[in-house]
Amino acid sequence: MHIVIFGANGGTGRLLCRLAVDAGHTAVAVTRHPNDFPLAHERLTVAGADVRDPSSLVEVLGGADAVLSALGVPFSPRRIDTYSVGAANIVAAMRETAVRRLVVVSSTGAYPYPGRIDPPVSLRFIEPVVTRTIGKSTYDDQRRMENIIRSSGLDWTIVRPSGLFDLPEPTKYIAGEVDPVGSYTARIDLADYMRTIVGGPDTVGKTVVVSTIQNTPSMWQMIRREAFRSAS
Ligand SMILES: NC(=O)c1ccc[n+]([C@@H]2O[C@H](COP(=O)([O-])OP(=O)(O)OC[C@H]3O[C@@H](n4cnc5c(N)ncnc54)[C@H](OP(=O)(O)O)[C@@H]3O)[C@@H](O)[C@H]2O)c1
Repeated sequence: MHIVIFGANGGTGRLLCRLAVDAGHTAVAVTRHPNDFPLAHERLTVAGADVRDPSSLVEVLGGADAVLSALGVPFSPRRIDTYSVGAANIVAAMRETAVRRLVVVSSTGAYPYPGRIDPPVSLRFIEPVVTRTIGKSTYDDQRRMENIIRSSGLDWTIVRPSGLFDLPEPTKYIAGEVDPVGSYTARIDLADYMRTIVGGPDTVGKTVVVSTIQNTPSMWQMIRREAFRSAS
C-alpha cells in the first residue's frame, strides 16, 4: 500500500512510519518541519504540509491507498481546533483525490469510560479533573473531529488510545470494540494496531480502543516521563 501519515514527526507518527516501511509499504511522512524529520528510508518520502492549510494537502495525497493520522497538539487553556480543522481539511482533500481509507487517532479521554481495567487510584481522581480543566479544550475538539470523521462518507476508523507512554516493542495489547478499556497505551502498540487494521475491512466505520496491559507505568512514572519527553 501507499500510505500518507499525518502527525508523522510525533511520538506515534515516527513509529507508524517505521512500521509501515518495515511491512513493505511506501509512506509519505507529513510534517510542518520536513528538514528536521529524523527518519530516512528508500520507501519513505517526507512532505512539508500544515493540515490547517487545505491547499497543501491535495498534493501529498496523490496516489495514496490510505491515510493514517496521529496528529496532535499540546493541552492548552486556549481554544484548540487543530484536530477538527485538520480533520475537515484532510477529509476534503481525500474526497478530491478519491482516497477512501482513513484511520485517525482520538482519545479515550474525550469520552467517559467508567469501566477502566485496573485503574490506579490516582487516575480515578486526576482524570476527571484533567478532562474538565487543562484537557477540556483538547477533548472538546477531539469530539468535533470524531463527528467530522463519522460523517465523512469515507472508509474511516477512529482509534482511541488511553494515556500514551513509550515501550521499545509491541506487546500483547487489547484492541477493538472492547469495554472496559485500559488506562494506558504504548505508542508502539497504537502504531502497530493502526498499521495492522489499515489494509482490512474489519474496523471500517467503527470506533475502537487500544489498551496496553503489560509493562505499564504508574501514574506518576508516566507524568514524569511525558513531562521529560515534552521538554526534550
Ligand atoms: N499524550 C497522551 O497521553 C494521549 C492520550 C490519548 C490520545 N492522545 C493522542 O494521540 C495522538 C498522538 O500523540 P503523540 O504524543 O504520539 O503525538 P505528538 O508527539 O504530540 O505529535 C503530534 C504531531 O502532530 C503534528 N502536528 C501538529 N499540528 C500540526 C499541523 N497543523 N499540521 C501538520 N502536523 C501537525 C506535529 O508535527 P510537526 O510539528 O512536525 O508538524 C507533531 O509532531 C494525538 O492525537 C494525541 O492527542 C494522546
